[in-house]
Amino acid sequence: MCHTLPRNTLCALLILVLSLTGCTEWTYQRMNDPSRDVWQKPQGVIDKLSIARGSRIADLGAGGGYFTWHLARAVGASGTIYAVDIEERAINFIFKEMVARGTPNVRPVRAEPHDPRLPEPVDLVFSCDVYHLMNDRVGYFRSLASALRPGGRVAILDFHPRGFVLGLFGHRVQKNEVRREMEDAGYLLVDDYDLIDRQHFQIFAKADN
Ligand SMILES: C[S@@+](CC[C@H](N)C(=O)[O-])C[C@H]1O[C@@H](n2cnc3c(N)ncnc32)[C@H](O)[C@@H]1O
Repeated sequence: MCHTLPRNTLCALLILVLSLTGCTEWTYQRMNDPSRDVWQKPQGVIDKLSIARGSRIADLGAGGGYFTWHLARAVGASGTIYAVDIEERAINFIFKEMVARGTPNVRPVRAEPHDPRLPEPVDLVFSCDVYHLMNDRVGYFRSLASALRPGGRVAILDFHPRGFVLGLFGHRVQKNEVRREMEDAGYLLVDDYDLIDRQHFQIFAKADN
């Protein structure tokens, strides 16, 4: 029976089951698999973000920290990455990885679904494959504006809603929907990159900056 299902459908079903049951350590390891680099192009993403050394960045919905480690390298020893997640298991996983990788500029933060609980304002809120999971996104990002330093930005990457299963279960979000909601939350689109085939990649700044 499984042999008759297309590979994309099987992957989508796996993602769906994992998102309904919560992530395990295995899931975070899978998210960090270096084979992801081929399509995710992490260095290309980092280059587009034009990150200054010493910046403070929140990796919102850090998961296993796939982007956390790239961001940590970009800000250097004088910068700080807050690896923010609502899942205790993600935070524990990141603690272990921090020790293994020796990245003292990463600080894990256990968040609430409606509050990132950042200890200080940041220059950039970065989020990959998280936006579609969030509730009341307009309200969330409207209040997040006070956690941005002057000139602060919000980068949002998420998957294009392609394919029957993902479309059916709403496990994705349209690029224009992100833009419309962020404008409702008081932001302006400042960059829109066509870098990754599977994901849209938009950067926003507060409209009143
Ligand atoms: C699909 S994973 C993506 C992880 C990582 N960003 C990556 O690209 O590998 C989504 C993560 O977002 C977290 N998450 C979901 N809603 C969140 C929220 N409101 N605030 C912070 N984290 C959230 C989940 O717990 C999960 O670890």
